[in-house]
Amino acid sequence: MSEKDDKDLQETTPDRKGIDRRDILQGMATLPVLGLFGYAVHKQVSYENAQVAQTLGTAQASNLKEVNVALLGAGAQGQVLLDAMLKCPNVRFRAVCDIWTDYNLKKVVNILKKYNFNVNGYEDYREMLDKEKDIEAVVIATPDFWHSQHAVDCMKAGKHVYCEKEMSNTLEGARRMVLTQRETGKLLQIGHQRRSNPRYRYCYNKLIKEAKLLGRVVTINGQWNRAVQPDLGYPKRYEIPADKLKKYGFKSMEQFRNWRWYKGLGGGPIVDLGSHQIDIYGWFLDARPVALIASGGHDYYPPETREWYDTAMVVYEYETPQGGARGFYQTQTTNSSLGYFERFMGDQGTLVISESDANYANAIYREVTAPPWDEWVQKGYVTAPKVVEVKEQKAVLDVRESVSPDEHKIPIEFVDLYHRPHLMNFFNSVRGLEKLNCPAEIGYETAVTVLKVNEAIEARQRLEFRPDEFEVS
Ligand SMILES: NC(=O)c1ccc[n+]([C@@H]2O[C@H](COP(=O)([O-])OP(=O)(O)OC[C@H]3O[C@@H](n4cnc5c(N)ncnc54)[C@H](O)[C@@H]3O)[C@@H](O)[C@H]2O)c1
Repeated sequence: MSEKDDKDLQETTPDRKGIDRRDILQGMATLPVLGLFGYAVHKQVSYENAQVAQTLGTAQASNLKEVNVALLGAGAQGQVLLDAMLKCPNVRFRAVCDIWTDYNLKKVVNILKKYNFNVNGYEDYREMLDKEKDIEAVVIATPDFWHSQHAVDCMKAGKHVYCEKEMSNTLEGARRMVLTQRETGKLLQIGHQRRSNPRYRYCYNKLIKEAKLLGRVVTINGQWNRAVQPDLGYPKRYEIPADKLKKYGFKSMEQFRNWRWYKGLGGGPIVDLGSHQIDIYGWFLDARPVALIASGGHDYYPPETREWYDTAMVVYEYETPQGGARGFYQTQTTNSSLGYFERFMGDQGTLVISESDANYANAIYREVTAPPWDEWVQKGYVTAPKVVEVKEQKAVLDVRESVSPDEHKIPIEFVDLYHRPHLMNFFNSVRGLEKLNCPAEIGYETAVTVLKVNEAIEARQRLEFRPDEFEVS
C-alpha cells in the first residue's frame, strides 16, 4: 500500500482529521488583574490538571499492570483508537483482525510492528479468539451491524470488550450484549467517549451537581452540522472480491465503505453523530426521555446510495426530578455552520460544551436574575466573567429586553486525544482500579433513545417511551 493510496483513503475519511486544539484557558489571560480571584482560579486549574493527568494515566503509569489487547476492526476509527491506545501505558497489542486484509489489516499490523509489538493479523475474528488465548481485552471498531455478534462472541470467549458506539444498529442486538455481559461477568464499555472526558465530567460533577450553577435545566439544544462530503472511496487495486464482501454482509465496495448510510448496516447521521450528544442529554439531566417528535428526510443526497435520512431534527420530552424539560437536537450533512455542541439552559445559567475546542469556548453564562457567582469564581470553579464592552446604543432598547448574560470559562484544559481517557478508564477497569464510565446498561439506554428517532421520522408521529423499554431483563 503506497502513501498515496493511504492519503486518497484518509481524505475521504472524516474521522481521521487531525485534532487541532487551542488553549481554552483564555480566562487565564486576565490573571494579572484578577489578584486573589486569579490566584484561586489558577489553583483550581492546577488541581484539575493534576486530576486530568491522573485520569490519563500519566501518573503512576509504570506501576500499571500490563493488559493484552486485540483490535477488531482496523478502519478509520480503529486507527484513531489505536493512536490513543499507543499512548495508554502498559497496553500490549497481541492481534489485529480486519476483513480488508490487504489494506487496513496490513497497515495496522505494520504500524504495530514498528512499535515493536509482535502482533498476528487475522481475517476471521473466531480464528483470532481460538488461537490468541492470552488476549484479555478486545477493542471493537467494526461497522455497527457487526457489534453485537463480535462483542457477544468475545465476551463468551472470556474477553473484556470495549465496543464502539452505536452499541448495535438494533435493540435486539444491544439486548444480547447486555445479557451476555451479565452472564459472563466480563466488562463491556461502550464508546461514548465524552463520558470519560475530564471537561464533561467536571461540568456534571462540579458545576451542575455540586455548585448547581444552571439551576433547573428546562431546555437543551445541540447539533452536529457537517459540510457536504463525497462518498468514501477506495484505492481500486485493493478492491475486495464480491463473494468475500457478501460473506461479511456487504453488497458492494461502495456499500462496504459507506455502510453507515445503509439500512441494516448503520443508522445514518442521527445515530452516527447524534448518539454521542444525545447520550449527554440524558446524563446531565439524570433522566430518560418520555416521548419524542422528529422530522427528517432525504433533503439532499439520493436515497439510493444514502438510505438513511441526511437531515434529522428531534425534540425529546423529559421528566426530570425537578420537572419537565425539552431537548432539541439536529444533525444535518450539508452545511457545517457552528459545528457541534450541546447547550444546557437552566433558570440560573447556561452551559455550552463541545468535545471540540474548534468552535466553542466551553463556557457557562450566569442569568442576570441569578445570585452572583463570586463564591464559585473565588473557589476557581469558573473563571471571572469576561467583561463585555457595551457598544454605543444606536437604537433605544425596550426596558423589558433581556441583557446578554456574563460569560465565564470552564477552567479545564483538555489537551489530549479525545478517546484516550475513555480507553484508560476501560483498561484501568480491566486492572480492577476503576469502574466503567459507560457500561452496557448506559449504552443500551442511549441506543433506545437514539434509535427511536429514525422510527419517529418514519412514523411521522409523536412516539412515547415506556419506562420498561430502557430495561433489559
Ligand atoms: N466514538 C467515535 O467518536 C467514533 C467515531 C467514528 C466511528 N465510530 C464507530 O467506529 C466503528 C467503525 O467506524 P469506522 O468509521 O472506522 O468504519 P470503517 O468502515 O472505516 O472501518 C470499519 C473496519 O471494519 C472492518 N470490518 C468490517 N466488517 C468486519 C468484520 N466482520 N470483521 C472484521 N473486520 C470487519 C472493515 O474492513 C474496516 O476496516 C463504527 O461503529 C462507528 O460508529 C466511533
